[in-house]
Amino acid sequence: DKGAYPYYMLKEIDEQPAVMRKIVQKYFDENGQPKIDEDLLKSMAAADHLYIVGAGTSYHAGLIGARIFEKLVGVPTSVHISSEFAYEQPLLSKKPFFIFLSQSGETADSREVLVHVNENKWPSLTITNVDKSTLSREATFTELLYAGPEIAVASTKAYTAQIAVEAVLAKALGEYMDKPAAREFDVKHQLGLVANGMQSLTDSKGIMKDLSDKYLSKTRNAFYIGRGIDWSVSLEAALKLKEISYVQAEGFASGELKHGTIALIEKGTPVIGIITQDRTAGLTRSNLEETQARGSNALTIVSRHLAQDGDNILLPDVDELLTPLLSVVPAQLLAYYTSLGKGLDVDKPRNLAKSVTVQ
Ligand code: M6R
Repeated sequence: DKGAYPYYMLKEIDEQPAVMRKIVQKYFDENGQPKIDEDLLKSMAAADHLYIVGAGTSYHAGLIGARIFEKLVGVPTSVHISSEFAYEQPLLSKKPFFIFLSQSGETADSREVLVHVNENKWPSLTITNVDKSTLSREATFTELLYAGPEIAVASTKAYTAQIAVEAVLAKALGEYMDKPAAREFDVKHQLGLVANGMQSLTDSKGIMKDLSDKYLSKTRNAFYIGRGIDWSVSLEAALKLKEISYVQAEGFASGELKHGTIALIEKGTPVIGIITQDRTAGLTRSNLEETQARGSNALTIVSRHLAQDGDNILLPDVDELLTPLLSVVPAQLLAYYTSLGKGLDVDKPRNLAKSVTVQ
Protein backbone atom coordinates (compact mmCIF):
# COMPACT_ATOMS: atom_id res chain seq x y z
CA ASP A 1 0.00 0.00 0.00
CA LYS A 2 1.43 3.39 -1.02
CA GLY A 3 -0.34 5.27 1.80
CA ALA A 4 -0.14 8.99 1.15
CA TYR A 5 2.58 8.58 -1.49
CA PRO A 6 1.75 9.28 -5.13
CA TYR A 7 4.12 6.53 -6.25
CA TYR A 8 5.75 3.47 -4.73
CA MET A 9 9.14 4.65 -5.90
CA LEU A 10 9.05 7.70 -3.63
CA LYS A 11 7.89 5.58 -0.70
CA GLU A 12 10.68 3.09 -1.34
CA ILE A 13 13.29 5.87 -1.55
CA ASP A 14 12.04 7.20 1.78
CA GLU A 15 12.18 3.75 3.38
CA GLN A 16 15.93 3.46 2.91
CA PRO A 17 16.99 4.77 6.34
CA ALA A 18 14.66 2.24 7.99
CA VAL A 19 16.04 -0.54 5.77
CA MET A 20 19.60 0.30 6.87
CA ARG A 21 18.51 0.10 10.52
CA LYS A 22 16.72 -3.17 9.91
CA ILE A 23 19.85 -4.67 8.34
CA VAL A 24 21.86 -3.62 11.40
CA GLN A 25 19.24 -5.17 13.64
CA LYS A 26 19.12 -8.44 11.69
CA TYR A 27 22.82 -8.87 11.04
CA PHE A 28 24.46 -7.90 14.36
CA ASP A 29 24.31 -9.56 17.76
CA GLU A 30 24.12 -7.72 21.08
CA ASN A 31 27.95 -7.46 21.20
CA GLY A 32 28.03 -5.71 17.86
CA GLN A 33 29.40 -8.77 16.04
CA PRO A 34 28.11 -9.62 12.55
CA LYS A 35 25.88 -12.69 12.52
CA ILE A 36 26.75 -14.73 9.44
CA ASP A 37 26.46 -18.50 9.16
CA GLU A 38 29.88 -20.03 9.86
CA ASP A 39 29.50 -22.61 7.08
CA LEU A 40 29.08 -19.74 4.63
CA LEU A 41 32.20 -17.98 5.92
CA LYS A 42 34.17 -21.22 5.75
CA SER A 43 33.10 -21.84 2.19
CA MET A 44 33.93 -18.28 1.13
CA ALA A 45 37.27 -18.29 2.93
CA ALA A 46 38.29 -21.38 0.97
CA ALA A 47 37.78 -19.57 -2.36
CA ASP A 48 40.61 -17.96 -4.32
CA HIS A 49 38.28 -15.61 -6.22
CA LEU A 50 34.77 -14.23 -5.69
CA TYR A 51 32.51 -13.87 -8.71
CA ILE A 52 29.54 -11.53 -8.27
CA VAL A 53 26.76 -12.02 -10.80
CA GLY A 54 23.69 -9.84 -11.35
CA ALA A 55 21.63 -7.82 -13.81
CA GLY A 56 20.73 -4.13 -13.99
CA THR A 57 20.73 -2.43 -10.63
CA SER A 58 21.85 -5.63 -8.91
CA TYR A 59 24.90 -5.74 -11.18
CA HIS A 60 25.60 -2.13 -10.16
CA ALA A 61 25.36 -3.08 -6.48
CA GLY A 62 27.87 -5.82 -7.25
CA LEU A 63 30.33 -3.27 -8.63
CA ILE A 64 30.34 -1.56 -5.24
CA GLY A 65 30.47 -4.88 -3.37
CA ALA A 66 33.56 -5.98 -5.28
CA ARG A 67 35.45 -2.92 -4.12
CA ILE A 68 34.38 -3.59 -0.53
CA PHE A 69 35.39 -7.28 -0.66
CA GLU A 70 38.77 -6.48 -2.15
CA LYS A 71 39.45 -3.79 0.47
CA LEU A 72 38.24 -5.63 3.56
CA VAL A 73 38.99 -9.25 2.66
CA GLY A 74 41.80 -8.90 0.14
CA VAL A 75 40.34 -11.53 -2.15
CA PRO A 76 40.18 -10.84 -5.91
CA THR A 77 36.56 -10.17 -6.80
CA SER A 78 35.06 -9.69 -10.22
CA VAL A 79 31.59 -8.63 -11.20
CA HIS A 80 29.65 -9.95 -14.17
CA ILE A 81 26.47 -9.12 -16.00
CA SER A 82 24.51 -12.36 -15.82
CA SER A 83 23.32 -12.34 -19.45
CA GLU A 84 26.94 -12.05 -20.57
CA PHE A 85 28.39 -14.56 -18.14
CA ALA A 86 25.84 -17.19 -19.10
CA TYR A 87 26.99 -17.30 -22.73
CA GLU A 88 30.54 -15.91 -22.71
CA GLN A 89 32.07 -17.42 -19.66
CA PRO A 90 35.42 -15.97 -18.59
CA LEU A 91 38.29 -18.19 -17.60
CA LEU A 92 37.63 -19.03 -13.95
CA SER A 93 40.01 -19.47 -11.04
CA LYS A 94 40.62 -22.88 -9.45
CA LYS A 95 38.37 -22.31 -6.44
CA PRO A 96 35.61 -19.92 -7.38
CA PHE A 97 32.80 -18.79 -5.08
CA PHE A 98 29.73 -17.21 -6.64
CA ILE A 99 27.58 -14.46 -5.19
CA PHE A 100 24.25 -13.89 -6.92
CA LEU A 101 22.62 -10.54 -6.35
CA SER A 102 18.94 -10.34 -7.18
CA GLN A 103 16.14 -8.35 -5.61
CA SER A 104 13.48 -10.72 -6.92
CA GLY A 105 15.51 -13.90 -6.93
CA GLU A 106 13.81 -14.74 -10.23
CA THR A 107 15.93 -13.13 -12.94
CA ALA A 108 16.27 -15.73 -15.69
CA ASP A 109 19.69 -14.55 -16.88
CA SER A 110 21.11 -14.95 -13.39
CA ARG A 111 19.45 -18.32 -12.93
CA GLU A 112 21.07 -19.53 -16.13
CA VAL A 113 24.47 -18.87 -14.55
CA LEU A 114 23.46 -20.58 -11.32
CA VAL A 115 22.41 -23.72 -13.17
CA HIS A 116 25.89 -23.88 -14.67
CA VAL A 117 27.50 -23.19 -11.28
CA ASN A 118 25.54 -26.06 -9.75
CA GLU A 119 26.44 -28.41 -12.57
CA ASN A 120 30.06 -27.78 -11.68
CA LYS A 121 29.38 -28.14 -7.94
CA TRP A 122 30.79 -24.71 -7.16
CA PRO A 123 29.59 -23.10 -3.93
CA SER A 124 27.28 -20.10 -4.15
CA LEU A 125 25.38 -17.51 -2.16
CA THR A 126 22.25 -15.67 -3.24
CA ILE A 127 21.63 -12.27 -1.70
CA THR A 128 17.97 -11.52 -2.33
CA ASN A 129 14.91 -9.74 -1.04
CA VAL A 130 12.66 -12.74 -1.59
CA ASP A 131 13.02 -15.75 0.65
CA LYS A 132 12.43 -19.08 -1.13
CA SER A 133 12.76 -17.45 -4.54
CA THR A 134 14.30 -19.58 -7.30
CA LEU A 135 17.82 -18.20 -6.90
CA SER A 136 17.57 -18.58 -3.15
CA ARG A 137 16.39 -22.20 -3.33
CA GLU A 138 19.02 -23.23 -5.85
CA ALA A 139 22.11 -21.60 -4.31
CA THR A 140 24.14 -23.22 -1.55
CA PHE A 141 23.50 -20.31 0.84
CA THR A 142 21.06 -17.41 1.08
CA GLU A 143 21.23 -14.05 2.84
CA LEU A 144 18.20 -11.79 2.84
CA LEU A 145 17.99 -8.06 2.21
CA TYR A 146 15.12 -7.34 4.61
CA ALA A 147 14.16 -4.36 2.45
CA GLY A 148 10.43 -5.17 2.40
CA PRO A 149 8.52 -5.53 -0.87
CA GLU A 150 9.86 -3.39 -3.70
CA ILE A 151 6.99 -2.62 -6.07
CA ALA A 152 8.26 0.18 -8.34
CA VAL A 153 10.00 -1.13 -11.45
CA ALA A 154 12.95 1.16 -10.73
CA SER A 155 14.94 -0.48 -7.97
CA THR A 156 16.00 1.83 -5.14
CA LYS A 157 16.01 0.36 -1.65
CA ALA A 158 17.14 -3.04 -2.95
CA TYR A 159 20.31 -1.41 -4.34
CA THR A 160 21.24 0.19 -1.03
CA ALA A 161 20.24 -2.94 0.91
CA GLN A 162 22.44 -5.10 -1.35
CA ILE A 163 25.43 -2.83 -0.74
CA ALA A 164 24.81 -2.82 3.03
CA VAL A 165 24.56 -6.62 3.17
CA GLU A 166 27.70 -6.98 1.05
CA ALA A 167 29.51 -4.69 3.51
CA VAL A 168 28.35 -6.75 6.51
CA LEU A 169 29.38 -9.95 4.76
CA ALA A 170 32.80 -8.54 3.82
CA LYS A 171 33.31 -7.43 7.41
CA ALA A 172 32.37 -10.87 8.75
CA LEU A 173 34.50 -12.73 6.19
CA GLY A 174 37.47 -10.41 6.68
CA GLU A 175 37.33 -10.87 10.45
CA TYR A 176 36.97 -14.63 10.04
CA MET A 177 40.12 -14.54 7.92
CA ASP A 178 41.83 -12.26 10.43
CA LYS A 179 42.24 -9.30 8.09
CA PRO A 180 43.15 -6.04 9.86
CA ALA A 181 41.20 -3.91 7.35
CA ALA A 182 38.01 -5.75 8.29
CA ARG A 183 38.68 -5.56 12.00
CA GLU A 184 39.13 -1.80 11.78
CA PHE A 185 36.00 -1.22 9.74
CA ASP A 186 33.08 -0.52 12.08
CA VAL A 187 30.32 -1.33 9.64
CA LYS A 188 27.59 -1.29 12.29
CA HIS A 189 28.45 2.25 13.33
CA GLN A 190 28.86 3.32 9.71
CA LEU A 191 25.45 1.96 8.72
CA GLY A 192 23.95 4.02 11.55
CA LEU A 193 25.62 7.13 10.11
CA VAL A 194 24.38 6.13 6.65
CA ALA A 195 20.79 5.81 7.91
CA ASN A 196 20.94 9.31 9.39
CA GLY A 197 22.57 10.68 6.26
CA MET A 198 19.91 9.13 4.03
CA GLN A 199 17.27 10.69 6.23
CA SER A 200 18.72 14.16 5.81
CA LEU A 201 18.85 13.66 2.03
CA THR A 202 15.28 12.42 1.75
CA ASP A 203 14.27 15.40 3.92
CA SER A 204 15.77 17.75 1.31
CA LYS A 205 13.65 16.74 -1.66
CA GLY A 206 13.03 20.37 -2.63
CA ILE A 207 16.66 20.74 -3.78
CA MET A 208 16.40 17.70 -6.04
CA LYS A 209 13.04 18.77 -7.43
CA ASP A 210 14.37 22.26 -8.29
CA LEU A 211 17.51 20.87 -9.96
CA SER A 212 15.44 18.42 -11.95
CA ASP A 213 13.00 21.15 -13.09
CA LYS A 214 15.85 23.42 -14.07
CA TYR A 215 18.36 21.06 -15.67
CA LEU A 216 16.81 17.69 -16.48
CA SER A 217 13.16 18.17 -17.40
CA LYS A 218 13.81 19.36 -20.94
CA THR A 219 17.06 17.69 -21.85
CA ARG A 220 17.32 14.72 -24.20
CA ASN A 221 20.58 13.52 -22.74
CA ALA A 222 22.67 13.77 -19.60
CA PHE A 223 25.84 12.41 -18.01
CA TYR A 224 26.79 11.24 -14.57
CA ILE A 225 30.55 11.13 -14.12
CA GLY A 226 32.96 10.01 -11.42
CA ARG A 227 36.02 7.91 -10.72
CA GLY A 228 36.35 4.58 -8.94
CA ILE A 229 33.42 3.91 -6.67
CA ASP A 230 31.82 7.19 -7.82
CA TRP A 231 31.92 5.91 -11.40
CA SER A 232 30.13 2.74 -10.29
CA VAL A 233 27.40 4.88 -8.72
CA SER A 234 27.25 6.96 -11.91
CA LEU A 235 26.16 3.84 -13.80
CA GLU A 236 23.28 3.26 -11.40
CA ALA A 237 22.37 6.97 -11.36
CA ALA A 238 22.21 7.01 -15.16
CA LEU A 239 20.12 3.82 -15.26
CA LYS A 240 17.55 5.39 -12.91
CA LEU A 241 17.25 8.47 -15.12
CA LYS A 242 16.97 6.39 -18.29
CA GLU A 243 14.41 3.92 -17.16
CA ILE A 244 11.82 6.23 -15.64
CA SER A 245 12.36 9.62 -17.31
CA TYR A 246 13.53 8.42 -20.75
CA VAL A 247 16.48 10.82 -20.73
CA GLN A 248 19.35 9.22 -22.60
CA ALA A 249 21.80 9.15 -19.75
CA GLU A 250 25.29 7.78 -19.54
CA GLY A 251 27.35 6.95 -16.47
CA PHE A 252 30.93 7.58 -17.41
CA ALA A 253 34.44 7.34 -15.97
CA SER A 254 35.29 11.02 -15.75
CA GLY A 255 38.91 10.61 -16.82
CA GLU A 256 37.85 8.70 -19.92
CA LEU A 257 35.66 11.52 -21.29
CA LYS A 258 38.56 13.22 -23.03
CA HIS A 259 39.24 10.04 -24.99
CA GLY A 260 36.20 10.56 -27.17
CA THR A 261 32.91 11.00 -25.40
CA ILE A 262 33.44 14.66 -24.53
CA ALA A 263 32.57 15.31 -28.18
CA LEU A 264 28.93 14.82 -27.16
CA ILE A 265 28.92 17.77 -24.78
CA GLU A 266 26.95 20.71 -26.15
CA LYS A 267 25.65 23.92 -24.70
CA GLY A 268 23.29 22.97 -21.90
CA THR A 269 24.12 19.24 -21.64
CA PRO A 270 23.71 18.34 -17.96
CA VAL A 271 26.82 16.69 -16.50
CA ILE A 272 26.50 15.60 -12.90
CA GLY A 273 29.76 14.88 -11.08
CA ILE A 274 29.76 12.48 -8.13
CA ILE A 275 32.63 13.40 -5.83
CA THR A 276 33.11 11.43 -2.61
CA GLN A 277 36.69 10.13 -2.64
CA ASP A 278 39.64 12.14 -1.34
CA ARG A 279 42.07 10.71 -3.86
CA THR A 280 40.03 11.51 -6.95
CA ALA A 281 37.95 14.55 -5.99
CA GLY A 282 40.28 17.08 -7.64
CA LEU A 283 40.55 15.05 -10.81
CA THR A 284 36.81 14.64 -11.20
CA ARG A 285 36.35 18.35 -10.60
CA SER A 286 38.77 19.23 -13.34
CA ASN A 287 37.05 16.79 -15.72
CA LEU A 288 33.76 18.47 -14.88
CA GLU A 289 35.30 21.87 -15.61
CA GLU A 290 36.47 20.56 -18.98
CA THR A 291 32.84 19.80 -19.85
CA GLN A 292 31.79 23.21 -18.57
CA ALA A 293 34.31 24.83 -20.90
CA ARG A 294 32.34 23.10 -23.71
CA GLY A 295 29.06 24.54 -22.46
CA SER A 296 27.74 21.84 -20.13
CA ASN A 297 25.52 22.57 -17.17
CA ALA A 298 27.73 21.05 -14.51
CA LEU A 299 26.13 19.88 -11.28
CA THR A 300 27.74 18.22 -8.27
CA ILE A 301 26.88 15.61 -5.65
CA VAL A 302 29.70 15.96 -3.12
CA SER A 303 30.69 14.60 0.29
CA ARG A 304 30.53 17.48 2.73
CA HIS A 305 34.22 17.45 3.69
CA LEU A 306 35.12 17.85 0.00
CA ALA A 307 32.58 20.59 -0.72
CA GLN A 308 33.42 23.91 -2.34
CA ASP A 309 31.40 27.04 -3.02
CA GLY A 310 28.82 26.43 -5.68
CA ASP A 311 28.35 22.70 -5.11
CA ASN A 312 24.74 21.60 -5.54
CA ILE A 313 24.06 18.58 -3.34
CA LEU A 314 26.07 17.89 -0.20
CA LEU A 315 26.28 14.42 1.33
CA PRO A 316 26.86 13.79 5.02
CA ASP A 317 30.28 12.24 5.60
CA VAL A 318 30.59 8.47 6.05
CA ASP A 319 33.44 6.00 5.42
CA GLU A 320 34.64 6.27 1.82
CA LEU A 321 33.65 2.66 1.07
CA LEU A 322 30.02 3.36 1.90
CA THR A 323 29.48 6.71 0.16
CA PRO A 324 27.45 5.00 -2.63
CA LEU A 325 24.70 4.45 -0.07
CA LEU A 326 24.32 8.22 0.12
CA SER A 327 25.35 9.49 -3.31
CA VAL A 328 22.74 7.34 -5.03
CA VAL A 329 19.84 8.88 -3.07
CA PRO A 330 19.90 12.31 -4.80
CA ALA A 331 20.21 10.49 -8.13
CA GLN A 332 17.12 8.42 -7.34
CA LEU A 333 15.24 11.60 -6.44
CA LEU A 334 16.44 13.48 -9.53
CA ALA A 335 15.15 10.62 -11.69
CA TYR A 336 11.88 10.54 -9.77
CA TYR A 337 11.18 14.26 -10.14
CA THR A 338 12.19 14.30 -13.78
CA SER A 339 9.76 11.48 -14.52
CA LEU A 340 7.05 13.06 -12.40
CA GLY A 341 7.55 16.45 -14.06
CA LYS A 342 7.04 14.86 -17.47
CA GLY A 343 3.79 13.32 -16.31
CA LEU A 344 5.08 9.76 -16.81
CA ASP A 345 4.01 6.70 -14.86
CA VAL A 346 6.94 6.64 -12.46
CA ASP A 347 6.30 3.15 -11.13
CA LYS A 348 5.60 1.48 -14.46
CA PRO A 349 7.91 2.81 -17.14
CA ARG A 350 7.27 1.73 -20.71
CA ASN A 351 8.73 -1.54 -22.05
CA LEU A 352 9.78 -2.80 -18.62
CA ALA A 353 8.68 -5.42 -16.11
CA LYS A 354 9.62 -5.63 -12.44
CA SER A 355 11.12 -9.03 -12.75
CA VAL A 356 12.68 -10.23 -15.97
CA THR A 357 12.00 -13.93 -16.35
CA VAL A 358 13.04 -14.31 -19.99
CA GLN A 359 16.59 -14.55 -21.27
O1 M6R B 1 15.36 -8.84 -9.39
P1 M6R B 1 16.76 -8.52 -9.89
O2 M6R B 1 17.54 -7.74 -8.90
O3 M6R B 1 17.50 -9.75 -10.32
O4 M6R B 1 16.51 -7.63 -11.15
C1 M6R B 1 17.58 -7.21 -11.95
C2 M6R B 1 17.20 -6.11 -12.89
O5 M6R B 1 16.20 -6.53 -13.78
C3 M6R B 1 16.71 -4.86 -12.15
O6 M6R B 1 17.65 -4.42 -11.22
C4 M6R B 1 16.43 -3.72 -13.14
O7 M6R B 1 17.60 -3.30 -13.74
C5 M6R B 1 15.72 -2.57 -12.44
N1 M6R B 1 14.52 -2.21 -13.16
C6 M6R B 1 16.55 -1.34 -12.33
O8 M6R B 1 15.89 -0.30 -11.68
